[in-house]
Amino acid sequence: MSARTGDAVVERGRVTLDAPAKVNLVLRVLERDEATGYHRLETVFQAVALADRLSIEVGRAGAPAVELEVSGADVGPPEENLVTRAARAFLARIGAEARLRIGLEKRIPAGAGLGGGSSDAAAALRALNILFGERLAPSTLHELGAALGSDVPFFLCGSPTALAWGRGDRLRPVSPLPVAPVLLVLPGVHVATADAYEALAKERAGPGFPAEPRAGGLVGREGELDWASLAAEAVNDFEAVVPPTRPRVARALRAVRDTAPRLSLLSGSGSAVFGVYRDTRAAAHAREILESGGHDVVETRTLERVPEPVRTPAGVERAPRRG
Ligand code: C5P
Repeated sequence: MSARTGDAVVERGRVTLDAPAKVNLVLRVLERDEATGYHRLETVFQAVALADRLSIEVGRAGAPAVELEVSGADVGPPEENLVTRAARAFLARIGAEARLRIGLEKRIPAGAGLGGGSSDAAAALRALNILFGERLAPSTLHELGAALGSDVPFFLCGSPTALAWGRGDRLRPVSPLPVAPVLLVLPGVHVATADAYEALAKERAGPGFPAEPRAGGLVGREGELDWASLAAEAVNDFEAVVPPTRPRVARALRAVRDTAPRLSLLSGSGSAVFGVYRDTRAAAHAREILESGGHDVVETRTLERVPEPVRTPAGVERAPRRG
């Protein structure tokens, strides 16, 4: 039997879900927590329309296995993919064995600070919870997600815009911002997040830096966010260390800023940079300029709501008890 799931109800068929990318509209890196090695941060996550597509099916026959097939990009061995790790963690938590067939169409570039791997992992957890009869509470999914990566909880929080603190896993969803066009500029270099944090910690250990970086007070602030105040506060602390050591990133950032977007930043720890524009005309014009300068540009927009899973229904069966 392929799905041995305690007394879980297993949906037949398949769940398909878009896993959106994110940008950070504010990203302040605060001190390192010596106990965990992670930095405290304060950030505003914003999901965008550029998305990977994930689909999961619970197989009817064969030995238990998690089979992941990735198309669209070479993202390394399936066994190490965050989707595979998310699926295994989910099955372990509900005490189930199953044969899962997972398809992942990659569109979000990796190593770009756009949260692709984290979003895929969150989508896998959401899809599996649907297929396995909503066995896990949102708080348990959050816990599983946080163990996979600091950005995963954001993609589970149900809001396209959220304030985050702690190591990025403490979240407060805020009212969605009006949809705005976004240009992502991809310098084609891969930045490892851990290296970027390391570089920042080193830079700050040097002379001329205050003992503790200042938080911006976003987290304690009442009320909603709006584009004007975000544009005024836009900051990404990684800009102190990532562009200076990667000329292609520095060049992309300068080029985006030259097109006078409403807000422009490095995304996460890079390498992607992005601009948010007032309207689609301004974005289209900026895109032309950037492309004629030889930049690799993806035109997208901010999301007002998170993508809904699509279920291909084929009845419901009650799986046999385990053991
Ligand atoms: O959680 P995630 O796997 O995305 O983190 C990758 C690396 O980035 C961590 O191993 C850590 O070195 C660094 N990191 C950090 N503080 C955070 C998030 C990540 O130092 N809040």
